Amino acid sequence: MPRYTSVFKDESKLDINYVPQHLLHRKLQLNLLNQFFRFAVESPGKMTQRALIMGHIGAGKTVLSQHFGLNITREAKQRNINLNYIHINCRECKGNLFMILQRTIMKFIPNFPRRGYSAEELLQALMQILDEKDAYLILTLDELESLVQNEGSDPLYNLSRIQEDRINTPKRLSLICILRQPGHLEKLDPSTRSTLQRNIIQLREYSESQLEDILDNRVNLAFRDGTVPHQTMNLIAELGKSESGNARYAIELLWRAGKYADASEMREVLPECVRNAVVSVYPVVRRDMIPEFSLHEKLFLLGVARHFKQTDSAYMSMGDAEEAYALACEEYGEKQRGHTQIWKYVKALSTSGIIETMVSGVGQRGKTTLISLPRIPASDLEQEMSKLLSQDWR
Ligand SMILES: Nc1ncnc2c1ncn2[C@@H]1O[C@H](COP(=O)(O)OP(=O)(O)OP(=O)(O)O)[C@@H](O)[C@H]1O
Ligand SMILES: [Mg+2]
Repeated sequence: MPRYTSVFKDESKLDINYVPQHLLHRKLQLNLLNQFFRFAVESPGKMTQRALIMGHIGAGKTVLSQHFGLNITREAKQRNINLNYIHINCRECKGNLFMILQRTIMKFIPNFPRRGYSAEELLQALMQILDEKDAYLILTLDELESLVQNEGSDPLYNLSRIQEDRINTPKRLSLICILRQPGHLEKLDPSTRSTLQRNIIQLREYSESQLEDILDNRVNLAFRDGTVPHQTMNLIAELGKSESGNARYAIELLWRAGKYADASEMREVLPECVRNAVVSVYPVVRRDMIPEFSLHEKLFLLGVARHFKQTDSAYMSMGDAEEAYALACEEYGEKQRGHTQIWKYVKALSTSGIIETMVSGVGQRGKTTLISLPRIPASDLEQEMSKLLSQDWR
């Protein structure tokens, strides 16, 4: 019997961190970014800029900014300008300006001491490094929600102000902010907000045919010839479109469908593989995000998942959630955190989209926060959390 050959030729092209060489259907937005930052290659030091990219999950915000960064630094290099593009994900830095600045500085000085500085001092140090190296920096703060939620509007204000305080020295630091939820704009100070609103790039949802093009490009890179029929791509594009044009979801479905084809030793990725993939891919819950939750966030989610497994109700009270979390802590021999800390977990988890919160309405005694789990089956979440928690304990 001939041995089975995988449908994939290079799975890494479907990886969440892969930056595709071709950015499709975002030419206008890329041009706009180039316009905003034209000065960085034409008259560096004369001014700085702040821009904002907004759009739904999977609308291509991160990839757009990364592409722009690659292009502009390439052009700067040809002109002998020391322009750097640094892309930092605020969520990965736990919404902490100190950590964001530390990561930024370490791109210039990898062995920069990790301790002994405040965020303000780090910011001063960064400016000094830029001066010493005669360097310019476009710093992208991706998933800015996390920073705003954790530290309010001060970080962005300080990042902007540091330029303005430096009179008679070249201006070196520009910012690109990436936001998914427009509501967070309201939390910024008026001057930062108005600058950002002036330079806004709003990414519209991808249409079905745009998603098909993006998929087609990935199929050619990741799959062996002739293994993904057109109707499979149509189906995935349709599903991606129905999730507000979410390209991430579409690519993840494509990958899972391929995995399913391999597991069943099929020669082609048939629509049935997609239908099987759909049940295990959650459009709004990012696969790469879950392992990053802190230990106690995972324990909290485990409690929430177990509660929802046992009830038909769509909401649970904050009190019930705390109880369920306490039980999970007990099981794993962890000391339960206090009320204020638990609130922070709830806020962070709802910003990430995995849970949702609302304040109870009329008819209830007093107001309480209600938690729901709209996007992932409780049993799947329980399984996932148990798996991750047992890894944490190994
Ligand atoms: N125009 C495009 N051309 C090629 N690939 C794209 C395009 N837009 C998005 N993608 C791919 O789709 C996936 C999701 O894009 P991206 O991560 O940029 O979305 P996002 O808007 O940043 O989502 P999130 O809000 O979750 O951070 C990535 O794998 C990206 O490479
Ligand atoms: Mg992104």
